[in-house]
Amino acid sequence: MQLGIVTLFPEMFAAVTDYGISGRAVRAGLMNLEFFNPRDFTTDKHRTVDDKPFGGGPGMLMKTEPLMASIAAARQAVRQKDSASHKTRVIYLSPQGRTLKQDSIIELAQLQSMVLLCGRYQGIDNRLVESEIDEEWSLGDFVISGGELAAMTLIDAMTRFQPGALGDEDSALEDSFTNGLLHSPEYTRPQSIDGQDVPKVLLSGDHEAIRKWRLKQSLGATWLKRPDLLKDRELEQEQIELLEQFKQEYAHYHAL
Ligand SMILES: C[S@@+](CC[C@H](N)C(=O)[O-])C[C@H]1O[C@@H](n2cnc3c(N)ncnc32)[C@H](O)[C@@H]1O
Repeated sequence: MQLGIVTLFPEMFAAVTDYGISGRAVRAGLMNLEFFNPRDFTTDKHRTVDDKPFGGGPGMLMKTEPLMASIAAARQAVRQKDSASHKTRVIYLSPQGRTLKQDSIIELAQLQSMVLLCGRYQGIDNRLVESEIDEEWSLGDFVISGGELAAMTLIDAMTRFQPGALGDEDSALEDSFTNGLLHSPEYTRPQSIDGQDVPKVLLSGDHEAIRKWRLKQSLGATWLKRPDLLKDRELEQEQIELLEQFKQEYAHYHAL
């Protein structure tokens, strides 16, 4: 995937390029990040990248011309490296965008290229949103100080769906939300800690019993923590039965 990133703070992206799974994917060439700093596209001696909003009010906006020039440069660079002939999407990370969910991540992760625009200050001129931006995506209903953390979150989440980025043991298909449910609880050594034991079935070696237990716990965790995920979901017969068992066991345990 070719990513052109428009940002005033490219150094921040070391968090994804230098560490962990995303760092490995970058080194393996699965994710190619190229940075375009509006400061490098300024024409005045102070290299100004902010400007006052028309109509007054607190704060500044990103200065329009350097931003437009960096978006154009990012588009061109990404287009040259992306062999496909489709249009490169320009995505603005914005609190006003659609909230990123696992299904949107999976869809975005299929693209071969994109330009990510990281806002700063109070954001960008609305005419740029109208003319340059194809999609706005948000981390959630809260405001952070810049789009970099949002872009890094998106890049990291998309990396998990690049073929070869994860070992089997980390498969993204098992992650929470990928199949619409939360992941089942997990345990590691020691077998007993402060009087709490690992569920016996996980030590049994019985793969079918473990699969059923995990599915039941996954349904149960979703029912307890994120019932909204189950609301519009049609469960299979096995899932209905396992969730019913979980509810009964839960009621029994909590009645004691
Ligand atoms: C301080 S915010 C600007 C907020 C803007 N004045 C508003 O109220 O809609 C600066 C930049 O941070 C980024 N940002 C803030 N919150 C975000 C969120 N929830 N998701 C994605 N990006 C966000 C955007 O790129 C935005 O341009």
